[in-house]
Amino acid sequence: MSDNHLGTLRALREAALRGGGAKRVDQQHARGKLTARERLALLIDADSFQELGALATHHSSDFGMDAQRFPGDGIVTGFGKINGRRVAVFAQDFTVLGGSFSEVQSHKICRIQDLALESGIPLIGLNDSGGARIQEGVRSLAAYGEVFTRNVLASGVIPQLSVMMGPCAGGAVYSPALTDLVIMSATTSYMFLTGPEVIRAVTGEEVSIADLGGPLVHAARSGVAHLVAVGEAEAIAMARLVLSYLPQNNTEDAPQIAPYDAPNRMDEALNTLVPGDENAPYDIRDAIVAIGDYDSFLEVQPDYAANAVVGFARLDGYAIGVIANQPAVMAGALDIDASDKIARFIRLCDAFNLPIITFVDCPGFLPGVAQEYGGVIRHGAKIIYAYCEATVPKISVVTRKAIGGSYVAMSSKQMRSDLAFAWPTAQIAVMGAEGAVRILFREQLAKAEDPAAAEAEFVRAYRERFFNPYHAADIGQIDEVIEPSETRPRLVRALEVLRTKVQHNPPKKHGLMPI
Ligand code: HXC
Repeated sequence: MSDNHLGTLRALREAALRGGGAKRVDQQHARGKLTARERLALLIDADSFQELGALATHHSSDFGMDAQRFPGDGIVTGFGKINGRRVAVFAQDFTVLGGSFSEVQSHKICRIQDLALESGIPLIGLNDSGGARIQEGVRSLAAYGEVFTRNVLASGVIPQLSVMMGPCAGGAVYSPALTDLVIMSATTSYMFLTGPEVIRAVTGEEVSIADLGGPLVHAARSGVAHLVAVGEAEAIAMARLVLSYLPQNNTEDAPQIAPYDAPNRMDEALNTLVPGDENAPYDIRDAIVAIGDYDSFLEVQPDYAANAVVGFARLDGYAIGVIANQPAVMAGALDIDASDKIARFIRLCDAFNLPIITFVDCPGFLPGVAQEYGGVIRHGAKIIYAYCEATVPKISVVTRKAIGGSYVAMSSKQMRSDLAFAWPTAQIAVMGAEGAVRILFREQLAKAEDPAAAEAEFVRAYRERFFNPYHAADIGQIDEVIEPSETRPRLVRALEVLRTKVQHNPPKKHGLMPI
């Protein structure tokens, strides 16, 4: 090969490494943002990156595009390793035409989507783009459809993570929304379908970019973001961490790391976690943290529907999914948003073979006109659908209230849960004592000489009968009443048994989940 040939290749490669050029790289840094390649260097294990499509350029000549041709065309794509495990990656390069999405970008993303799906390896996208490349018109719009299609076909087969580093505007938001987890960098990213200017023109509403589509909005209000990081480096570290809980694809078991926390470790503090006052709040995350392997709990969507808690953890080194009611928020009642949050996480765990541990302390579904009008019936049904459909090992632990619909919905044995434990503080009943007594003993109360004293006596009797786990254990709805302190060893042993569980659903094209 002549020096000339090698020289041309090297020059093109160097041009690709420069992205949009020194000036735009400086602008990117001045915005507090890293470049696509700097981000990939943080994401991927050292020396593991294999780039594809570095020399691709767009084929447009409209609107002066001839003069704006950059090798790579605003996106870096390829393969690498994260903690030694293979992954496919793309990183949009804002220094090239604002990372705008072109036909060539689409081809490059689709190429690695196809290869990732065929090879059964996770796909991670680092997003930083002004959306559809305006100069390419409908060609860039159509190109999104190719990416969306592949997002959907890969869903539930390989993990797909979206890390938001900069803008993500317009229909472009739907690719991240189709992936399994959206991680936003708090300092640099935002997502919206229509921006502040369009909203002002159409509805007259005034809103800033941050208040419309900033990470705090998506973390707490819309539920679009699953994790928010303080900055880009942390967002990337979160993506690496999330992958450590997931298998490479849906045919693999949940990953195990070398156990580092004694499986028989007991925690006496759990015996006093549930307060004596049955209506007093406590933080169920204290139980999750104490029961899981040390420092293994990664909460997902912590600020959205905080009356429910979902996240990844480990037990004896094995990755698990955890779902819980949160008595510290709205007494742990289930509402529309909590139902969506729980149902989606169940499906994520089930798709990727993570056993599900459910901690139950729920007074029921939240009563209210707004909830009924908002469709709490169909949203709540998602929890039931997801638990019933899930074939992974499922274990529930009733820590306190499992009242009415929440007893059934939160991983009850009738919904194919494998094992049900209860703490001695568990209360399993159709409804609360006062309400039940007023219905059951209406006539007696009306005739009583001292209605208040009679009601108190009926309440006491009702509570004695139902507000404990022993009636449910007596009839086999609860497999075992356990001391809170022994929950960890119990769960470790139960999962050891269930690890080889095989369960199938009837063959079907797909069910009709109440979405
Ligand atoms: C072409 C674009 C571009 C785009 C940005 N640029 N967005 N070029 N197509 N969509 C270019 C800018 O012209 C600029 O070029 C460079 O990228 C950097 O952009 P700035 O505006 O200087 O950056 P900043 O101030 O940070 O603002 C970022 C921004 C803004 C808020 C994203 O660029 C913007 O509003 N862009 C348009 C967003 C948009 O409406 N996109 C279409 C959405 S509709 P120079 O040469 O000056 O450096 C859509 C439909 C998808 O995406 C449908 C899928 C189904």
